[in-house]
Amino acid sequence: MVTRRVVKLTEFGSPQVLSIVTEELASPMPGEVRVRQTAIGFNFIDIYQRKGIYPLPLPTGLGFEAAGVVEAVGSGVTHIQSGDRVAYMNAGVGAYADRRNVPADKLVALPDTVSDEAAATLLFKGMTAQYLLRKTHAVQAGEVLLVHSAAGGVGQILTRWATALGATVFGTTGSPGKRETALAAGCVDVIDLNDPEWPDAFLRASGGRKARVVYDAIGKDTLIKSLDCAAPFGLVVCYGASSGKAPAVDPELLNKKGCLFLTRPSVFPHNADPATFRANAADVFEAIAQGHVSVDIGGRFRLDDIVEAHVAAEERRFGGALLIAP
Ligand SMILES: NC(=O)c1ccc[n+]([C@@H]2O[C@H](COP(=O)([O-])OP(=O)(O)OC[C@H]3O[C@@H](n4cnc5c(N)ncnc54)[C@H](OP(=O)(O)O)[C@@H]3O)[C@@H](O)[C@H]2O)c1
Repeated sequence: MVTRRVVKLTEFGSPQVLSIVTEELASPMPGEVRVRQTAIGFNFIDIYQRKGIYPLPLPTGLGFEAAGVVEAVGSGVTHIQSGDRVAYMNAGVGAYADRRNVPADKLVALPDTVSDEAAATLLFKGMTAQYLLRKTHAVQAGEVLLVHSAAGGVGQILTRWATALGATVFGTTGSPGKRETALAAGCVDVIDLNDPEWPDAFLRASGGRKARVVYDAIGKDTLIKSLDCAAPFGLVVCYGASSGKAPAVDPELLNKKGCLFLTRPSVFPHNADPATFRANAADVFEAIAQGHVSVDIGGRFRLDDIVEAHVAAEERRFGGALLIAP
């Protein structure tokens, strides 16, 4: 038995509902390993869960991804040993902690080329970009894509990787200050969403060419207008709700806008099978090694400052990814 520090949520609400407790952590059960965490990833979904938009049974931990070193191994675990460097992104909530027991089949071993910090900022977001670019639509060279929030965590990765695949990526940001970040990630042009006529601005920038795929995780504020940016028979991917839940879409509207396809996918079902999870992670690690996947670390916080980290994320203060050090 060891003690650990872990973030707990006993009610839904503002960042201030997050508190840190010290508690005993039992030895790993059969099939589990104990990870001493060195870097914890922040993801926008953590905000939805803290607010209760995606409700969790209370009390609960929070956070989906972390990297660290295996400290103890439960019975029946053969492919992971004490001392291994590992990371995870789909082991359920509870990553905001300095130690955690994790089912071994939810862990990936980290190659030497991927640091703990890179893993904790890239695994969840990289796995998201991986299925969006390979499964939701297999992106081809020469295709025009529109990526919303291109300066954000997933947005930067999507943009870099799609550009490496030969696509022409237009991005959007919610403030002109993030334009340079989106351009540095590979966008050929960046549209300011403060312009209410931003779909026209996109079409002017693209020379009238609409997007084969629109990647929209903003939701409420953008989804209907995103339909105007997709080419006939194109795909609109609603994969998040940063501004609030997207409105219901009448199928007839998809017909009117050009026989469009609309999908609302999630990273978890794409990685539920352990072998598929490991194969997808290997794809992300290879893309990191090739330099196709990276993200700026926009802000660094201690676990003790988790409230401040959530405030900063909600205020959209930083581009890129936020990193939490235990
Ligand atoms: N479905 C999936 O599988 C999946 C997996 C991972 C993430 N996601 C989604 O992908 C999105 C990006 O995730 P992330 O962790 O990388 O976050 P992020 O992009 O670093 O942060 C979210 C961004 O959304 C933009 N935004 C627009 N309207 C907003 C509003 N009203 N309030 C707050 N932000 C607003 C902001 O960019 P600007 O300031 O440039 O507008 C903000 O930086 C999130 O919606 C997340 O839920 C989905």
